[in-house]
Amino acid sequence: MKIIHTIREIREYVREQRTLGKTVGLVPTMGSLHDGHLSLARQAKAECDVAVMSIFVNPLQFGPSEDYDRYPRNLEGDARLAETAGVDAIFAPPVHEMYPQPQMTFVDVEGLTENLCGASRPGHFRGVATVVTKLFNIVQPDKAFFGQKDAQQVRVIEQMVQDLNIPVQIVPCPIVREADGLAMSSRNVYLSPEERRQALAIYRALQAAEAMFGAGERSADAIREQVRSIIEAEPLAEVDYIKIVDLQTLSDTSLIDRDCLLAVAVRFGGTRLIDNVILRP
Ligand code: PAF
Repeated sequence: MKIIHTIREIREYVREQRTLGKTVGLVPTMGSLHDGHLSLARQAKAECDVAVMSIFVNPLQFGPSEDYDRYPRNLEGDARLAETAGVDAIFAPPVHEMYPQPQMTFVDVEGLTENLCGASRPGHFRGVATVVTKLFNIVQPDKAFFGQKDAQQVRVIEQMVQDLNIPVQIVPCPIVREADGLAMSSRNVYLSPEERRQALAIYRALQAAEAMFGAGERSADAIREQVRSIIEAEPLAEVDYIKIVDLQTLSDTSLIDRDCLLAVAVRFGGTRLIDNVILRP
């Protein structure tokens, strides 16, 4: 497996693969890999001849009070794991390679970025959309693989690709969970044992919501209240949002009469966790 740090070299590598007639899948990550990322890599390798994983902690998508500086970084460990999942090349540029001068051009996806995480993380999706556009322009993959845990991110990137005619197929991949149900996230390492134990309420609440929905409940308020009561029973939980939104528009809905997303963001101590389920009538 190759580890490449410059745009010139990754372009050269991809060009060589294309000359050999190979298709290219891209798995964009910020590193600190867990099984969720590895499942994306395996999917990329199953669907494309060559799997490229980018590892780049993108400063543009972190707010001033967020965890950019302390975000876990471990390229050597990540490389070992990526190789086991079949990754052919890692693209791990330093910040000055991606942003050699202050960025003056940004990608804003309007309408999908104001609700949910966009409301509490202003500028976050602009940073994501901008860096993902740059990665698509650099690697020019046939397909790109994203985890459905970041459901809003997936929807934003799908819309961006469509609006800007970027020739890449976006492949959303299922959420990967720990054995006890906690959605895998690079931020889980910040949780104390007690916070981690209480955080399991998120999955319990989502399961309860699915059960209510399965039994015929279609009122978003009723389901949200049930989710809130399960999560808020944990003393360390601070709910950022519990929302049920239209899966396409990501706008709030009161009646679940079409495909909807139940999405939550909850803080335990200083750690903000997100999770979701899709409710399909
Ligand atoms: O989901 C992530 O890890 C990041 O938002 C992404 C897509 C790699 C962009 O920096």
